[in-house]
Amino acid sequence: MSEKIELSINGKKVIAAKGERLIDVAKREGDYIPRFCYHPKLSVVASCRMCLVDIEGMGKPQPACATYVSQDMMVRTQSKKAIDAQKAIMQFLLINHPLNCPICDQGGECELQDTAMGYGEGVSEYTEDKRTVEDEDLGPLVATEMSLCIHCTRCVRFGKEIAGISDLGLVGRSDSAMISTYLNTGLKSELSGNMIDLCPVGALTSKPFKFKGRSWGFKQHLGISPHDCVGSNLAYHTIAKGYDYLSDVIRVLPYHQPLLNDTWLSDRDRFSYEGINSDKRLKKPLVKKGGQFEEIDWQDALLMVSEKLKAHKDAMGVWVSSQATCEEGYLIQSLFSKLGVLNIDAQLLRNDVHNMDLRPYDIPPEDIISYDTIVLVGSNIRYEQPMLSIKVKQAFENGANVHSIGSIHHEYYFEHTHHMTPVQTLVKTVYETCQLAKEAGILKGKVLWILGEEAWIHPQASLLQSIIHNYCENKSASYMVLPPGANTLGLLAAGCHPGSAGMGFQKMLDKPLEMVWMHQVDPLLDTADPKRAYEQAKSAFTVSLSSFDTEGIRDCADLILPLAVVAESPGTYINYMGYVQSFKSATAPKHEAKMGFSIYDVLYQILFGAREQKIEAISKKVHHEYTNKKWPTIIENLEVPKPIDAKWQRLGLSHHVRSDIQLRHAESLQKAYPIEEVVYCSDQATYDLMHKHLPNIQVSDKVAPGVLFYERATVFYGASCGEVGLEIDHE
Ligand code: SF4
Ligand code: SF4
Ligand code: FES
Repeated sequence: MSEKIELSINGKKVIAAKGERLIDVAKREGDYIPRFCYHPKLSVVASCRMCLVDIEGMGKPQPACATYVSQDMMVRTQSKKAIDAQKAIMQFLLINHPLNCPICDQGGECELQDTAMGYGEGVSEYTEDKRTVEDEDLGPLVATEMSLCIHCTRCVRFGKEIAGISDLGLVGRSDSAMISTYLNTGLKSELSGNMIDLCPVGALTSKPFKFKGRSWGFKQHLGISPHDCVGSNLAYHTIAKGYDYLSDVIRVLPYHQPLLNDTWLSDRDRFSYEGINSDKRLKKPLVKKGGQFEEIDWQDALLMVSEKLKAHKDAMGVWVSSQATCEEGYLIQSLFSKLGVLNIDAQLLRNDVHNMDLRPYDIPPEDIISYDTIVLVGSNIRYEQPMLSIKVKQAFENGANVHSIGSIHHEYYFEHTHHMTPVQTLVKTVYETCQLAKEAGILKGKVLWILGEEAWIHPQASLLQSIIHNYCENKSASYMVLPPGANTLGLLAAGCHPGSAGMGFQKMLDKPLEMVWMHQVDPLLDTADPKRAYEQAKSAFTVSLSSFDTEGIRDCADLILPLAVVAESPGTYINYMGYVQSFKSATAPKHEAKMGFSIYDVLYQILFGAREQKIEAISKKVHHEYTNKKWPTIIENLEVPKPIDAKWQRLGLSHHVRSDIQLRHAESLQKAYPIEEVVYCSDQATYDLMHKHLPNIQVSDKVAPGVLFYERATVFYGASCGEVGLEIDHE
């Protein structure tokens, strides 16, 4: 326990821990000290001097953010000396600050505005022209108004210390000082939106949100991120119209959750709300007649569905997005299993017919920092799980060795050693690494294996898991599997899987199906095998529950039912640790969209008679089932892995801002990360062979031999495949 000391703040006796900063202790005791450059999650630079306080025995006022408390210290935050110092600093800060509050996007939630109310003078003595600073284009997500910048450098420090980028810096001195990207290169970080939150003034604001509303006119609705398996907490803001909560979501901010996302949020989670308001939202149920879609009302649509279900239940498959909630998953399995349909799968990006034994991995983000060695297996962690990537960076800074193994050398923002291996030999390489680690101790101290998307979708995924599981047994080593999507674990717990009697997704593609059910799935973009999934859906009678009207879905579906997006429905998500989080809807379903659980509930009633199911009751059942779930023991597979005799095969990696249908309709994110048409291969011979098919092919040392990497259809192939396999790529 840290040593306790006693001090006095404004005459009040205060107990604090040795090593605490005065600014934090005072805040805890209710004596707020104004600040601009200080932020508890960033290093201390003490540059703004706004936090000057009066400390007994010290001649000049001292910055509270850079002062540690000490025994018998006597601090006054409100004495004349302290207030005079704070007012003087405020005056300096406002010399060049434009009086823009009425038209500034930060108005109403601006630290400078608030502080100026407390410490500023009503009248300025400054009559000279104010300086102006040219704005920089930081890209489609962050807007700038650089004349408002007060040079607190929070954005610069966040870039370096948390996001691992050095895109922004402070250039110039004195009244020429400014924040700049040096070369007008824009901002490239999957965490860039956090700089908006950190900026105490309106210098950095959200571009998609610009001039959309004022903070005092919003209602806040708490939610859970629907895009990755960490379950970041967030707040949807809608414009309050009296008691009407039905207005559009106009921005998303992080909601402090110390266990998961802390105070941060990925850009993907922050800006995906634009998809909710997209004009591509499906407006009404549609039915295909003579190759053309016609509108149909809900009642007729559901009656048609129930007839089709009765007719084709013996040969049908159900494909569920990993973004579906536990409640939806529970109702899907209860409806279809009652019908006798067991071919249900929510793991559509899997290439292994054997399922990985997914289970909760009780390693909270903060614990990652404590490992001595971290091995990333097939993981582009920076984009797949941005909140966990921050922790890997912190572990590295604490001295951890970071290794990565995989067929693509992703860009991380921490030092690491990459072990390039073709997809064919990934599992073999991991096996050999484990052997070597056991015999020669090459992995030091406490070891954490993190299995990412390339591991998840690998054709030998279950063997890979078994090898790492064996390695971790009886050692100071742990592993975790991070599946794509928000709720893979929750859907598994809710029973949304084929069990031992049904067929998983890959097997469903091998059998002719009469009917396909797609829940928020675009077969061309959300599955490991888009071409075969599309053909299967096209040849069957396909019902698509979708929030969006897309070409891919129109092409292969026969009936399309508008589905609410996650923010429009209550539900529950279970994150990779098994952390259960329920949420309410933030806004009403757009147009004629319906919440998933109510669609399944009504269908159940049509097919099997009345059954009153309230969402709260379903959530309770889901909680109960999850709490009592017995996870199967991992089947030990001591088989020595053989390299895959590769045919052409799609790996199904997905770009982080295109990994689900809502993201693909979030306009600013799409502009920030335009589709990259370049195909990367490892060598000149492959380049020469493929160039006539793929004019945008480039040789790159970031890709292993036998892999063609591009964002829409990464494929791998064996030495004898030649050019023929290109047909597997639907693009
Ligand atoms: Fe006003 Fe704050 Fe905007 Fe400055 S940054 S103009 S103080 S709202
Ligand atoms: Fe601070 Fe904002 Fe200026 Fe960055 S842009 S230095 S966060 S005021
Ligand atoms: Fe202490 Fe800036 S907050 S010097």
